[in-house]
Amino acid sequence: MGGRDDGRLVSNLAAGGRILLAVEPPEILVRRTPTMEDRTRVLAASAKLQVAKTMHVSSAAGTDVTFALGDYPMLEEYGFVDAPGRWDHWPSGFLATWSNEGSAEGMIVLAPGDILLPQKSYVTAPITLRLAGGYVRAIEGGYEAGHLRDYMESFGDPEAYAVSHIGWGLQWRAHWSVMGFYDREATIGMDPRACAGNFLWSTGPNNEAGGTRDTACHIDIPMCGCTVRLDGEAVVVDGNLVEG
Ligand SMILES: [Fe+2]
Repeated sequence: MGGRDDGRLVSNLAAGGRILLAVEPPEILVRRTPTMEDRTRVLAASAKLQVAKTMHVSSAAGTDVTFALGDYPMLEEYGFVDAPGRWDHWPSGFLATWSNEGSAEGMIVLAPGDILLPQKSYVTAPITLRLAGGYVRAIEGGYEAGHLRDYMESFGDPEAYAVSHIGWGLQWRAHWSVMGFYDREATIGMDPRACAGNFLWSTGPNNEAGGTRDTACHIDIPMCGCTVRLDGEAVVVDGNLVEG
């Protein structure tokens, strides 16, 4: 997610302020009113991610990608700000960190039904993204792949292609289908970002995590049906959350 990288907000948080971003229609906020259980689930997953050195993601569509971990902090989004200096989203319910610089290697294949944000669109045909040395090096596919290439090229910034945050959804009250019922201006897509068992990865900045990359091009990509492994241990299998 973005939103914490504004200098005024950073200084506010450093001074002990708390910021809760709430940008969804009222009925979504009500359905996703955060609970202590949400916090417990996110923090339990975070305990696993904090000690992991690698994340591997695969899918039947052809995704096979590895990220090195350990250089960046956790992004624990559970929907409320219960401590000084905390920033969060309501609604939320997912966990992420940032891929170590230069480490992402492999291929990510978006399958029909996967989602591009901020386009707020469901992919209808496969898009193959080839990653090497921490960057997306090629985007292949049909019209939607071309649309994505055109959008990213429009920034004229090579840092737009870096891998940013990576993680998975932990919110059972978030639903994949919801975004399809709203006009683009009515939602920022916090349902697909948080759906339990998604794989959410992104491209672009890492200044939110303390890095130096501040490119304005940031694309969040929630995916269905992936298997996510931390040092070989699955936390998501075929899009289903592994808990306990
Ligand atoms: Fe993001």
